[in-house]
Order: sequence, then C-alpha cells, then structure tokens
Amino acid sequence: MKAGVYHGPGMVVLDDRPVPEISAPTDAIVKILKTTICGTDLHILKGDVPTCAPGRILGHEGVGIVERIGSGVTAFHQGDHVIISCISACGKCEYCRRGMYSHCITGGWILGNEIDGTQAEYVRIPHADTSLYLIPKGADEEALVMLSDILPTGFECGVLNGKVEPGSTVAIVGAGPIGLAALLTAQFYSPAEIIMIDLDENRLQVAKRFGATTTVNAAHGKAAETVMKLTGGRGVDTAIEAVGVPATFITCENIVAPGGTIANIGVHGVKVDLHLERLWSRNITITTRLVDTVTTPMLLKTVQSQRIDPKRLITHRFKLDNIVEAYDIFGRASSTQALKVIIEP
Ligand SMILES: NC(=O)c1ccc[n+]([C@@H]2O[C@H](COP(=O)([O-])OP(=O)(O)OC[C@H]3O[C@@H](n4cnc5c(N)ncnc54)[C@H](O)[C@@H]3O)[C@@H](O)[C@H]2O)c1
Ligand SMILES: [Zn+2]
Ligand SMILES: [Zn+2]
Repeated sequence: MKAGVYHGPGMVVLDDRPVPEISAPTDAIVKILKTTICGTDLHILKGDVPTCAPGRILGHEGVGIVERIGSGVTAFHQGDHVIISCISACGKCEYCRRGMYSHCITGGWILGNEIDGTQAEYVRIPHADTSLYLIPKGADEEALVMLSDILPTGFECGVLNGKVEPGSTVAIVGAGPIGLAALLTAQFYSPAEIIMIDLDENRLQVAKRFGATTTVNAAHGKAAETVMKLTGGRGVDTAIEAVGVPATFITCENIVAPGGTIANIGVHGVKVDLHLERLWSRNITITTRLVDTVTTPMLLKTVQSQRIDPKRLITHRFKLDNIVEAYDIFGRASSTQALKVIIEP
C-alpha cells in the first residue's frame, strides 16, 4: 500500500509498505477514507518529537471503514464506518479508568508516533473497542475528520482546562486549526470577548468569521500590550496558548488577569521562562494537557446537530499520491492560506 513515511527531519516520502496485519486480538485494521495533517506532524518534521523514529508512517487523524477485526473486538464489525481517535486507549489501565486516555500505559498518543499512523491506505488500530467511534449513518465524514484530534484538543486542553465561562474574557494565542477549534468550542459557553492573536492576517480574518470579537496581529511584538489596552488594563480570564513557542506562552503570562487561567495546548520543543516574580500573587492557574479525546462523543453530537461546523476549516484536498505536496502546502500556510487539508487514498 502507499503511505506517507517520515524519513528524518524535514523529509516525508510516499513509500510502498505492506498492508498492516492484526497483531493482538484487540486490534482492528481500518481502510482509510480520509486523513489529514496536523501541526504536530510539522513538529515531528522539525525534530521536536524524539519518540517518532525515521521509517514511521505519519498521521493520527482520519475516518475509515473497518476492514478486519481481532477475535477480542466486540464493539465494531467489518464494514463499520469509524472515526479514528488520535489517542489509543485500553479502557482498563489506571489512567484510562480516570478518563486520562492520553496516558494509557499501552496506548496514548502512539499513532503516527510510536506506531504506524493514518497517512496510508490502511492502519492498524490497537485497543479498537475504545479507540474508534462509530459514525452515524448519513453523517458528513469529511467534517468528522476534525473530531480525531483538533476539536477535542481545542475543547479539552483550551476551553475546559481554561474554564471558559459565560461573560468571561478569553484570548487565544494562535489561530491555526487548533486555536480555531478552541474558538469554535469556546462559544458553547458564551464568553463576552474572544480575542484571537496571530501573525497571519488571513488566519485572523478566518477567526473573525468564526466568531472572534477582536483580532490582534502579533507581528509588531506588542500583542500583550494591545490585549491589556483592550481589556482596560485587567487582562483576560482565560489565556489559551495554541502555538507551542516560548514567545506565545510568555504573551499568556503577560495577559492573564488576577484569578485567571493559562491553558497551554502547544507542543513545546524548548524551555520557557515562568515569571513567578510577577505571577506569584495573582491567584492564577496554569494547566497543561495532552488531549484525552474523552469529549469526542459529545462533540460528535454538536457537529451532527450543526451547533458547530468544522468543515469550514478545510481549505485543500489531495490524493495520497500527492502527500509530499500536501505537506508542502500545509507547511507554508502563511502563503498558501491552508488550514486543514483532506488527503484521500
Ligand atoms: N496538547 C495536545 O494534545 C495537542 C494536540 C494537537 C496539537 N497540539 C499543538 O497545538 C499547537 C497548534 O497546532 P496547529 O495545528 O493549530 O498549528 P499551526 O502551526 O497550524 O498554527 C500555529 C499558529 O500560530 C501562529 N504563530 C506562530 N508564532 C506566533 C507568534 N509568535 N505569535 C502569535 N501567533 C504565532 C502561526 O501563524 C499559526 O497560525 C501545535 O504546537 C500543536 O503541536 C497539541
Ligand atoms: Zn494532532
Ligand atoms: Zn489504558
């Protein structure tokens, strides 16, 4: 089969690889219908993710059809249409029993990282019963690709951890797919203000269309100053970091209001300064999280009932044969205006 394979920093290659086989009774083999590329795949290409070795098929998002199941799989059958979660979960270990699937001792974020992923014609899904979600009949499967990772990530790591409340003030630093997913799902709670911050004017325009009340271009290096002015010197109740570089986390430190929360989403490759000399007295909370995907069934209902429309994030479509081009377009988002790219075998 064809697959997008990581060949070391900066290199993705379309390779020919064997179709995966069932290796444990709890496995399923899923035929991929649609997959996509994540900002985290770009972190892998930058060399920020040491657990992902060269030779790995990339990708941790997608929808597909169950092709084969192991003898221990009971919740899914051949022919079922499914959403593949970016997090594999056994459902039985101590972390899974606490709903912290991201830290499952035999799962977590392994797909397209420690085991072969979804940017291929087929993928092996371990712990299939608790890592796949059945797609309701008639659903728009392209929109549901956004449920593998970005919607639960923006919602769980940003909105829930950030304790977004009715009437509150929110800033989201980073208007990539993850920041925009946080923007869409923050609106479940009717905050009074949602300020989006990015360097990319196109993404800020998209953010406006998606419901941001104000946008701030950080290119001049004065994002924090601008947010403080916009909030009358008070700062924001929730500062969501959706980039993963020191400058943007520090922006969050500079704009969080007394009693507020900094909710980090970004994957960080280097250390960041924590300014406790300023923050110690401000009653703030800092949260970090690897997405658990516990909210996937809930988010699926909000997409089904058209409370949110994640399909608006899709900007480009490619054949798997052209995956190298898809990475190039996605990786140059500021000139190509790419958000989510759909890849189909
Ligand atoms: N915690 C988790 O479980 C989890 C899951 C998925 C993704 N992530 C991470 O979330 C982050 C965002 O993902 P994405 O797919 O949206 O990435 P992305 O690269 O598409 O978007 C990042 C955005 O940040 C903007 N940006 C860069 N530097 C900036 C600066 N100095 N000031 C303001 N904006 C700046 C870019 O213009 C871009 O729009 C990544 O670090 C990704 O790895 C985390
Ligand atoms: Zn991802
Ligand atoms: Zn587990």
